[in-house]
Amino acid sequence: MRVLFASSEVFPLVKTGGLADVSGALPGALREAGVDARILLPGYPAAMEKARKAKRVASLGDPLGIGAEAHLVAAELPGSRVPVWLIDCAPLYDRAGGPYQDAAGRDYEDNARRFGLLSWAAARLCTRDGPLKWRPDILHGNDWQAGLAPAYLRAWGEKATATVFTIHNMAYQGLFPKEILPELKLPWNLYRIDGLEYYDSVSFLKAGLVYSDRITTVSRRYAKEIQTAAFGCGMEGVLAHRAADLVGIVNGADYGVWNPGEDPHLSHRYAPGAYAEGKAANKAALQAELGLAPSPDAPLMVVVSRLNEQKGMDLILSDLPILLRGGAQLAVLGAGDHMLEDGFRTAAAKSPRQVAASIGYSEPLAHKLMAAGDMLLMPSRFEPCGLTQFYAYRYATVPVVHATGGLADTVVDATYDSLMTQTATGFVFEHANPGAFQWCVERALALFRNKEEWRTIQDTCVAQDFSWRRSAERYANLYNALVSEGAGENG
Ligand code: ADP
Ligand code: GLC
Repeated sequence: MRVLFASSEVFPLVKTGGLADVSGALPGALREAGVDARILLPGYPAAMEKARKAKRVASLGDPLGIGAEAHLVAAELPGSRVPVWLIDCAPLYDRAGGPYQDAAGRDYEDNARRFGLLSWAAARLCTRDGPLKWRPDILHGNDWQAGLAPAYLRAWGEKATATVFTIHNMAYQGLFPKEILPELKLPWNLYRIDGLEYYDSVSFLKAGLVYSDRITTVSRRYAKEIQTAAFGCGMEGVLAHRAADLVGIVNGADYGVWNPGEDPHLSHRYAPGAYAEGKAANKAALQAELGLAPSPDAPLMVVVSRLNEQKGMDLILSDLPILLRGGAQLAVLGAGDHMLEDGFRTAAAKSPRQVAASIGYSEPLAHKLMAAGDMLLMPSRFEPCGLTQFYAYRYATVPVVHATGGLADTVVDATYDSLMTQTATGFVFEHANPGAFQWCVERALALFRNKEEWRTIQDTCVAQDFSWRRSAERYANLYNALVSEGAGENG
């Protein structure tokens, strides 16, 4: 079974969020399950530098007429043997900023072309006269950036490869003016209400939803949520129409990267099963590093997140004065909306011994916060899966979450019963408003004072197994089912 995994970010080559973690781990887990999975990624400069054993293997020509030839560079994902193809096209990808935006946080103006080429190249590798001998049985695209790939296959009448499309976040849709269509070399006959047209624009996401053989998303709960107006971001109709082909497969955690026993970023490493001393040492080190009061008994709440509306960060800011009354501490690592960044900066300036705001992106600090924290706050308004709750578990840090998407599926609220049966793994609130969040955090703070019960919940957290193996098997089963029902070759 050959699978081409097309993604716009892959850890450790380039990362802005969870999609990179998934793309960096799932293909490896699939390979362990016997699937020949390989990755296709735009050749951003950071990725080209970090990729191992990179060498040019084929030309893609200049399919979108940008005036430069694109090449495929074959390489290996660092830390694994997973084959990666990078699309080497300097005019599109050799930029100083991030994968989607310039250094000032503005979307690149030519993102339609940048990710149009990713989609085009993915589709091209599936054709009989493609540039490589290796041809996939399954093309697995991720998020809007790869959404056009099945549309190209449709336009070319290519049926040899079956297609799977995974939604990591419905809120990002890749909407562009319809005039882009000829530049992307797509025919107007796909521009229709049951095609890639969306309110008089071209939607890359909708193309993925309409033209793929199967659609997956990253938790069962989110698979249901996105068929409703509250979570569907306008695509609920399309998804309800395709409900029979839509499944939720929960993400996993890469315990090679997130393991307190071997974490190179920690000053004190500890085995997950023997966390008490290790966490105390990491907490003291972090308090010193961030200038927080050096108190071992102050509950330390941590946040590692993009700072935006999705993540419910405003709820934390609204409740902060109340939550800090009892001596709790908060350490935030994140970047995003300037209002939220300023909000956390201001809170830290006001109470520097209780609040620390690290605005920016830092892989080492993310690991230190997981190890030092007592609680991880995730009041997300919606959360397709969420990965940091899994990382928190491994580090014996207890998540406090809103009951949505993957958080609802993977965190068990601490109640009298769940504590007695040792199934509680966190604190869950049902309604995303400041009152409900406050009450939930206060329940966590109260339980924290009861050392024995807190240990029970930590023990349950570290015993959770969200490794990729099971989820990779579910993807492998999906690929097998598609191939055996002939969705590709004969479909
Ligand atoms: P999302 O993909 O919606 O951002 P996830 O929980 O799936 O949410 O994944 C977020 C990933 O990004 C995690 O690996 C988390 O550690 C990481 N992350 C988020 N913000 C930062 C940051 N400011 N610095 C370092 N890592 C971050
Ligand atoms: C998205 C979602 C997040 C999910 C990640 C990986 O960024 O916001 O919930 O965990 O993708 O699937």
